[in-house]
Amino acid sequence: MSLRVIFVTSLLLGLAAACPPSDRAALLSFRAALHEPYLGIFNSWTGADCCRNWYGVSCDPESRRVADINLRGESEDPIFQRAKRTGYMTGTISSAICRLERLSSLTVADWKGISGEIPACLASLPYLRILDLIGNRLSGEIPADIGRLKRLTVLNVADNMITGRIPSSLTGLSSLMHLDLRNNRISGPLPQDFGMLRMLSRALLSGNQITGSIPASISQIYRLADLDLSSNRLSGQIPPSLGKMPVLATLNLDFNQISGAIPASLINSAVSNLNLSRNSIQGTIPDVFGPRSYFTVLDLSYNNLRGPIPKSISAATYIGHMDLSHNHLCGRIPAGSPFDHLEASSFGYNDCLCGKPLKAC
Ligand SMILES: *[C@@H]1O[C@H](CO)[C@@H](O)[C@H](O)[C@H]1NC(C)=O
Repeated sequence: MSLRVIFVTSLLLGLAAACPPSDRAALLSFRAALHEPYLGIFNSWTGADCCRNWYGVSCDPESRRVADINLRGESEDPIFQRAKRTGYMTGTISSAICRLERLSSLTVADWKGISGEIPACLASLPYLRILDLIGNRLSGEIPADIGRLKRLTVLNVADNMITGRIPSSLTGLSSLMHLDLRNNRISGPLPQDFGMLRMLSRALLSGNQITGSIPASISQIYRLADLDLSSNRLSGQIPPSLGKMPVLATLNLDFNQISGAIPASLINSAVSNLNLSRNSIQGTIPDVFGPRSYFTVLDLSYNNLRGPIPKSISAATYIGHMDLSHNHLCGRIPAGSPFDHLEASSFGYNDCLCGKPLKAC
């Protein structure tokens, strides 16, 4: 009798522990739209319980609903070491994935050959925290109502072929910490209310075709440490308020069509990695260097800067790599320990700079 109770109980537990058939069916539809010829990562996707030993799949321990899909084409996993190669996959990301209502993270990264669009229905997965589709051949646009994902912390679709504009709803991603849209074909302007992304710490948008000016609202993002807008088609001036941001450490605006002068605030800011190279920046270099000026990189090359190198630059705490070449600077290069180590190439192709490390005045 008691044996029977144990048997029935364990049967019930066993059933409760398996993934729901609907989740299993959704995974199998997702798999059916993909083709992975070299590693056999989907060979483990057999049996009734998709929560058990299905490569890259994990379930919530209580609800037994599928919570994470983590498929990376570049990984230390033994499956890659045995095959002695990185992953390659073709096919598309099926909208069947959206039937996994409790999905919290979807990583399908660095498979190089997955094409088609980002399923628009992903925007209706209320528990989604991580969406990482970097390194594929995805085309089409970012889903228009992506902003519905109030729990999303990571949005990474870098290194794909995404076109269209940044949807206006994107600024509604109130939990977003990491935005990576690098190296796509995104056009149109940045949303003016970009500063609504209050949790953002990294915003990487380089290598697109983004136009218009840099929204001043960005400077309201208290936690933003890394802003990369390089290699786009941005114009207008640099908002001076960027220099007032408390933790902004990297500011890459190089390779755009930015004009106007360098805001003095940027020279005396938390920014330590500043690349403004290859723009149309005019005026003089602000003479406001001081103890707060600490630069591992200060690249102002290929602009239209005039006048002398300011004397205050000798008061900077540190300047690692500096490039002022290809401007119209003139006058004596100040002497000073922060940049004693710089070579002539840092100062080349100007109008009339002189003194060490160039020839004497
Ligand atoms: C700054 O940007 C330019 C243009 O994109 C690039 O060539 C250069 O290597 C960058 N400078 C540094 C120090 O990374």
